[in-house]
Amino acid sequence: MTWEKTLVLVKPDGVKRGLMGAVMQRYEQAGLVISAARLISADQLLAEEHYGEHKGKKFFPPLVKLLLSGPSLALAVEGVHAIEVVRKINGDTEPRIAAPGTIRGDYTHMSYTRCPELDGVICNVVHASDSPESAERELGLWFKDEDFVKPYDTVLKGFI
Ligand code: RTP
Ligand code: MG
Repeated sequence: MTWEKTLVLVKPDGVKRGLMGAVMQRYEQAGLVISAARLISADQLLAEEHYGEHKGKKFFPPLVKLLLSGPSLALAVEGVHAIEVVRKINGDTEPRIAAPGTIRGDYTHMSYTRCPELDGVICNVVHASDSPESAERELGLWFKDEDFVKPYDTVLKGFI
Protein backbone atom coordinates (compact mmCIF):
# COMPACT_ATOMS: atom_id res chain seq x y z
CA MET A 1 0.00 0.00 0.00
CA THR A 2 1.42 3.35 -1.01
CA TRP A 3 0.02 5.85 1.45
CA GLU A 4 0.57 9.42 0.24
CA LYS A 5 -0.24 12.94 1.35
CA THR A 6 -0.72 15.64 -1.28
CA LEU A 7 -1.43 19.37 -1.41
CA VAL A 8 -4.68 20.57 -2.94
CA LEU A 9 -5.62 24.21 -3.39
CA VAL A 10 -9.10 25.38 -4.14
CA LYS A 11 -7.77 28.39 -6.02
CA PRO A 12 -9.32 31.87 -5.67
CA ASP A 13 -11.59 31.35 -8.68
CA GLY A 14 -13.05 28.25 -6.98
CA VAL A 15 -13.41 29.94 -3.59
CA LYS A 16 -15.17 32.94 -5.19
CA ARG A 17 -17.59 30.62 -6.95
CA GLY A 18 -18.49 28.89 -3.67
CA LEU A 19 -17.01 25.54 -4.66
CA MET A 20 -15.00 24.69 -1.53
CA GLY A 21 -17.57 22.21 -0.22
CA ALA A 22 -18.18 20.61 -3.61
CA VAL A 23 -14.44 20.10 -4.15
CA MET A 24 -13.84 18.59 -0.71
CA GLN A 25 -16.78 16.25 -1.24
CA ARG A 26 -15.16 14.79 -4.38
CA TYR A 27 -12.10 13.64 -2.43
CA GLU A 28 -14.04 12.49 0.61
CA GLN A 29 -16.54 10.44 -1.39
CA ALA A 30 -13.60 8.62 -3.01
CA GLY A 31 -12.41 7.63 0.49
CA LEU A 32 -9.51 10.05 0.67
CA VAL A 33 -9.18 11.98 3.93
CA ILE A 34 -8.42 15.62 4.65
CA SER A 35 -5.79 15.93 7.36
CA ALA A 36 -5.25 19.71 7.30
CA ALA A 37 -7.17 22.71 5.99
CA ARG A 38 -6.41 26.44 5.93
CA LEU A 39 -8.06 29.36 4.15
CA ILE A 40 -5.19 31.65 3.18
CA SER A 41 -4.74 34.84 1.19
CA ALA A 42 -1.35 34.14 -0.38
CA ASP A 43 1.21 36.95 -0.53
CA GLN A 44 3.56 37.52 -3.48
CA LEU A 45 6.32 35.35 -2.00
CA LEU A 46 4.06 32.36 -1.31
CA ALA A 47 2.37 32.62 -4.72
CA GLU A 48 5.71 32.78 -6.58
CA GLU A 49 7.23 29.94 -4.55
CA HIS A 50 4.18 27.74 -4.98
CA TYR A 51 4.30 27.96 -8.78
CA GLY A 52 8.13 28.28 -8.86
CA GLU A 53 8.46 25.42 -11.36
CA HIS A 54 6.71 27.65 -13.95
CA LYS A 55 8.95 30.70 -13.43
CA GLY A 56 10.03 32.08 -16.80
CA LYS A 57 7.00 30.73 -18.66
CA LYS A 58 4.62 33.11 -20.41
CA PHE A 59 1.74 32.24 -18.08
CA PHE A 60 3.75 32.64 -14.84
CA PRO A 61 2.91 36.33 -14.07
CA PRO A 62 -0.84 35.92 -14.63
CA LEU A 63 -0.79 32.63 -12.72
CA VAL A 64 0.72 34.42 -9.71
CA LYS A 65 -1.86 37.17 -10.18
CA LEU A 66 -4.61 34.55 -10.01
CA LEU A 67 -3.29 33.22 -6.68
CA LEU A 68 -3.17 36.79 -5.35
CA SER A 69 -6.73 37.57 -6.44
CA GLY A 70 -8.38 36.19 -3.27
CA PRO A 71 -8.14 33.49 -0.64
CA SER A 72 -7.25 29.90 -1.49
CA LEU A 73 -8.32 26.88 0.51
CA ALA A 74 -5.24 24.74 1.16
CA LEU A 75 -5.94 21.07 1.91
CA ALA A 76 -3.70 18.16 2.81
CA VAL A 77 -5.37 15.12 1.25
CA GLU A 78 -4.28 11.61 2.22
CA GLY A 79 -4.90 8.14 0.87
CA VAL A 80 -3.52 5.24 -1.14
CA HIS A 81 -1.79 6.70 -4.21
CA ALA A 82 -3.35 10.04 -3.22
CA ILE A 83 -1.14 12.10 -5.55
CA GLU A 84 -2.28 10.24 -8.66
CA VAL A 85 -5.89 9.77 -7.53
CA VAL A 86 -6.41 13.44 -6.65
CA ARG A 87 -5.13 14.51 -10.06
CA LYS A 88 -7.49 12.00 -11.70
CA ILE A 89 -10.39 13.49 -9.73
CA ASN A 90 -9.28 17.04 -10.70
CA GLY A 91 -9.13 16.24 -14.43
CA ASP A 92 -7.08 17.69 -17.27
CA THR A 93 -5.44 21.09 -16.78
CA GLU A 94 -7.33 22.65 -19.69
CA PRO A 95 -11.06 22.73 -18.86
CA ARG A 96 -12.03 22.25 -22.52
CA ILE A 97 -10.32 18.83 -22.42
CA ALA A 98 -11.20 17.79 -18.86
CA ALA A 99 -13.61 14.86 -18.83
CA PRO A 100 -17.12 15.07 -17.41
CA GLY A 101 -17.12 13.68 -13.88
CA THR A 102 -13.88 15.41 -12.98
CA ILE A 103 -13.87 18.65 -10.98
CA ARG A 104 -12.49 20.67 -13.88
CA GLY A 105 -14.75 18.94 -16.39
CA ASP A 106 -17.88 19.56 -14.33
CA TYR A 107 -17.24 23.10 -13.12
CA THR A 108 -15.28 24.74 -15.95
CA HIS A 109 -15.20 24.74 -19.74
CA MET A 110 -12.74 27.41 -20.96
CA SER A 111 -9.79 26.88 -23.30
CA TYR A 112 -6.21 28.15 -23.02
CA THR A 113 -7.16 31.10 -25.22
CA ARG A 114 -9.81 32.42 -22.82
CA CYS A 115 -9.89 33.98 -19.37
CA PRO A 116 -8.84 37.34 -20.90
CA GLU A 117 -8.96 39.32 -17.67
CA LEU A 118 -6.12 37.10 -16.43
CA ASP A 119 -4.09 37.27 -19.63
CA GLY A 120 -4.78 33.75 -20.74
CA VAL A 121 -4.38 32.00 -17.40
CA ILE A 122 -6.73 29.16 -16.93
CA CYS A 123 -9.24 29.42 -14.08
CA ASN A 124 -9.49 25.73 -13.37
CA VAL A 125 -10.61 25.78 -9.71
CA VAL A 126 -8.04 23.42 -8.20
CA HIS A 127 -4.34 22.73 -7.90
CA ALA A 128 -2.77 19.43 -6.88
CA SER A 129 0.83 18.34 -6.41
CA ASP A 130 2.19 16.24 -9.27
CA SER A 131 4.87 14.11 -7.54
CA PRO A 132 5.99 13.03 -4.05
CA GLU A 133 8.75 15.66 -4.19
CA SER A 134 6.40 18.50 -5.09
CA ALA A 135 3.86 17.30 -2.53
CA GLU A 136 6.44 17.51 0.24
CA ARG A 137 7.68 20.92 -0.92
CA GLU A 138 4.20 22.39 -1.39
CA LEU A 139 2.77 21.03 1.87
CA GLY A 140 5.71 22.71 3.60
CA LEU A 141 4.84 26.04 1.98
CA TRP A 142 1.18 26.11 3.00
CA PHE A 143 1.21 24.23 6.35
CA LYS A 144 3.11 24.01 9.58
CA ASP A 145 3.60 20.66 11.35
CA GLU A 146 0.98 21.49 13.97
CA ASP A 147 -1.71 22.06 11.31
CA PHE A 148 -1.99 18.31 10.63
CA VAL A 149 -4.45 16.10 12.47
CA LYS A 150 -2.71 12.97 13.68
CA PRO A 151 -2.80 10.09 14.07
CA TYR A 152 -5.31 9.39 11.31
CA ASP A 153 -5.23 5.58 11.49
CA THR A 154 -8.06 5.25 14.05
CA VAL A 155 -10.31 7.55 12.03
CA LEU A 156 -9.63 5.61 8.86
CA LYS A 157 -10.26 2.07 10.05
CA GLY A 158 -13.22 0.63 8.25
CA PHE A 159 -13.81 3.62 6.00
CA ILE A 160 -11.59 3.10 2.96
P1 RTP B 1 -1.94 22.73 -11.13
O1 RTP B 1 -0.43 22.83 -10.98
O2 RTP B 1 -2.65 24.05 -10.90
O3 RTP B 1 -2.53 21.58 -10.38
O4 RTP B 1 -2.28 22.40 -12.66
P2 RTP B 1 -1.59 21.28 -13.53
O5 RTP B 1 -0.52 20.56 -12.77
O6 RTP B 1 -2.71 20.49 -14.14
O7 RTP B 1 -0.94 22.18 -14.69
P3 RTP B 1 0.45 22.96 -14.70
O8 RTP B 1 1.11 22.68 -15.99
O9 RTP B 1 1.21 22.74 -13.44
O10 RTP B 1 -0.03 24.48 -14.76
C1 RTP B 1 -0.27 25.24 -13.60
C2 RTP B 1 -1.45 26.16 -13.84
O11 RTP B 1 -1.08 27.15 -14.79
C3 RTP B 1 -2.18 27.47 -15.61
N1 RTP B 1 -1.79 27.21 -16.98
N2 RTP B 1 -2.00 28.06 -17.96
N3 RTP B 1 -2.07 29.34 -20.50
C4 RTP B 1 -1.48 28.16 -20.38
O12 RTP B 1 -0.97 27.63 -21.30
C5 RTP B 1 -1.47 27.52 -19.05
N4 RTP B 1 -0.94 26.34 -18.78
C6 RTP B 1 -1.13 26.15 -17.46
C7 RTP B 1 -3.35 26.64 -15.13
O13 RTP B 1 -4.08 27.42 -14.17
C8 RTP B 1 -2.67 25.49 -14.43
O14 RTP B 1 -3.53 24.94 -13.44
MG1 MG C 1 1.01 21.59 -11.76
